[in-house]
Amino acid sequence: MVKKASLAAKGRECQDAGELQIGIKNKGVSALNFIISNSYAEMSVKAAHFVAAALKAKPDIVLGLPTGSTPIGMYQELVRMHKEEGLDFSQVSTFNLDEYRGLKGDHNQSYRYFMETNLFRHVNIKPENINFLSGVAKDPVAECKRYEEAIIKAGGIDLMILGIGINGHIGFNEPASKLEANSHIVKLTESTIKANARFFEHLEDVPREAITMGVGSILRSRNIILLASGTNKKEAVYGSMSGLVTTEIPGSLLQLHNEVTFFLDTEAAAKIKE
Ligand code: PGA
Repeated sequence: MVKKASLAAKGRECQDAGELQIGIKNKGVSALNFIISNSYAEMSVKAAHFVAAALKAKPDIVLGLPTGSTPIGMYQELVRMHKEEGLDFSQVSTFNLDEYRGLKGDHNQSYRYFMETNLFRHVNIKPENINFLSGVAKDPVAECKRYEEAIIKAGGIDLMILGIGINGHIGFNEPASKLEANSHIVKLTESTIKANARFFEHLEDVPREAITMGVGSILRSRNIILLASGTNKKEAVYGSMSGLVTTEIPGSLLQLHNEVTFFLDTEAAAKIKE
């Protein structure tokens, strides 16, 4: 059964990912769909099954990929599906959302390293189909241009997968009075540096800058899903679905897109259910 949410945004609660059709274009309204799961594990499996359905429908799919704690369960389920069910990544291309500035791809806190350990080395993706913004590019402006052109050359991103920061950031697009549309260098906010410090030995080790796709790069994707889990995400989730659009909550810009689905656990969904 499809439930209507009491939100200003035209949210649509779906029972499961099977209800969603992939690749529907232009339903005529901006509608954020959302699927609420009872646990992080359930949310992760549902998101993975959504991605797998998209991959099966288009074996040479172009994916936009996130890092962070939230997508780890989804990646684990995708790896399981590859190993046990033969989910085939041989034609898949990927573009990761962002990378820390100053970290080489083999640094154990780089996002490239994260992706290698959580997904790439466990599935049959071709190394030449993996795309990353370089955190150590000497000319970051040229690097951003190269990345945007590579996305276009690949035919655009079919399915962008996002997490969301406690402060509402998507990728590393931090809350601000203005946001850059395309890939760019960004200074991380104190709240993001603190949130990410858990992965580093010392707070001082957390990079202060990142290179990230812009909100325009994200919104040009044909289909977008966002995963959020835990009480500390409930405000960011609410702010992203409230019906108001503001660059101070970058996730709220997703309301301008026609094909967005939020995969939430009950804690992250707590405020939208109020
Ligand atoms: P998290 O990060 O999944 O580790 O909470 C999400 C993000 O900052 O985008």
